[in-house]
Order: sequence, then structure tokens, then C-alpha cells
Amino acid sequence: MDRPINPAQHCLDVCSAFGQAADPRMTEVMEAAVRHLHAFVEEVGLTREEWLAGINFLTEVGKNCDDVRQEFVLLSDTLGVSMLVEMVNEQPAPGSTEPTVLGPFYVEGALPRAFGDSIVDDPSTGGEPLVLHGTLTDLDGHPIPEATIEVWQVQPNGLYDIEENPQKRNLRGVFRTRGDGTYEVRTVRPVDYTIPDDGPVGAMLRTAGRKPWRPAHVHLMVRAPGYKPLVTHAFDAGSPWLSEDAVFGVRGSIIAPMDDGDCQFDLVIEKI
Ligand code: BEZ
Ligand code: FE
Repeated sequence: MDRPINPAQHCLDVCSAFGQAADPRMTEVMEAAVRHLHAFVEEVGLTREEWLAGINFLTEVGKNCDDVRQEFVLLSDTLGVSMLVEMVNEQPAPGSTEPTVLGPFYVEGALPRAFGDSIVDDPSTGGEPLVLHGTLTDLDGHPIPEATIEVWQVQPNGLYDIEENPQKRNLRGVFRTRGDGTYEVRTVRPVDYTIPDDGPVGAMLRTAGRKPWRPAHVHLMVRAPGYKPLVTHAFDAGSPWLSEDAVFGVRGSIIAPMDDGDCQFDLVIEKI
């Protein structure tokens, strides 16, 4: 091996080592990942100590993952990667409701609810009563009946039900739109809350001078046969954290006033 090896040649050598994968997509993804990773190391002149600190950080992130806590997803969220993956995979048609992150607190099997039902299952929930309602339409403004709108949100104490107790269910429900496309949910006004920040991702945010807050929101997942599923939030227009969301999930079209116990949040989805 008598050829000179500089960083550029070294990067090419590592990339070409991935050139024989049985799946060409594996080659494409790994070559790009190596190129960007090497460019990052060169650009910042990464020291050995920083490299080791990075390895130790990722090790801690891995140690903080189990069935209920997924610190790698939280890392992806706080680095803006989760939202970027959404943007790369789905460009919403103009006029349709913008999507945002699913988040880690979605639970399958929420109770079916009738139009106007309450999702407050724990009588000690507290908070300000809120009626969240609106109409689901297609891009031409035609109402979509019999769609499911699944909602879930944080409790007024700043915790999701399952953070308090994995078995607890509160502030969740699956609604169906009526013949005119309308839906209505009785709930409590969502509050601003912090993402789980007692692990390495929280430490990263503090070290970087970032805040762990998410602006108050209700999660909505909309499904209707023949339409693209939509995962989004209704953000409270009164939240002070709209421009500092820890996971970069805020979009202009999904901010709505929630004053005086009422929030109209119309939804528009696209045909497949
Ligand atoms: C949430 O909105 O529930 C959420 C999203 C991303 C990270 C943490 C929480
Ligand atoms: Fe949330």
C-alpha cells in the first residue's frame, strides 16, 4: 500500500467499502452517511476528547432506551431530524393541514367516543374546560364523513397519563366525523410541558442553553379511507413557547386560539 492517504482519499476508501452491499440502497445511504460524517469531523477539527465525549453521550442515550422510554427518538426530535424526515417524505399539498411529529406518547387502543364526548376520564384532572371542534374536508372543501379523528394530550399537571403510570388512560379518544364532516371533543385546555429531560438529551439541552418546553397542543391523528393519513397537533395560539418548541414541530397553519373554552380547528386532508 504505497499510495498517499489523505482525509479525502480515506473517505473514498471507506465509501467504496460499502459499494458491494446486496441492496444498492444500503450502499447509497451508507456512502452518504460516511461522506457527511467525515466532512463534519474535518470541518470542526474534532478533538480526540470530543470524539470520546460523543461516544459516551450516545452510550448513555442507548442506556436510556426501554419499552417506554426512547431516548434516541428524543435525540432525533431535539436535533430536528424527526421533523426533517416528515418533510422529506411528505410534502403537504397547498391548502391541506400541515403534519407534525407523532411524539412518544401515542398509545393504540384509545376508547371510541361519540360526537361531543369528554375525554377527561380521571375526575381529578383539573384544568380549564375546552371544546375542540371543527370540520374535516378535502382540498375542494367537501366534508369527509365517517373519518376517525384520534386525539390525545398532556394533563394539566404537565404529564401525559402514561408518564404518571403506564396503565393509566386519560385525555385520549377516537372520534368519528358526522355526515357534514364535523367533530367535537370536550376536554381541558392543554398546557405547555417539558419533554422528558432527566436523561442525556435533557443534559444536552441544558449544556447548549436550550429549553425543554413544548408549546401547549392537542395531538390529532386523522384517518379516512381513500385519504392520506394525517398526524398533526392543534397548537394553542396563546402559548409563549411557539417559537422555541424543543422539537421544532410548530407550523403556522396549525396554531389556533383556545381562549374562552373554545377552539375551532378545521382539518383538510388529501386524497391518496
Ligand atoms: C409530544 O408532543 O408528545 C412530544 C413530541 C416529541 C418529543 C416529546 C414529546
Ligand atoms: Fe405532545
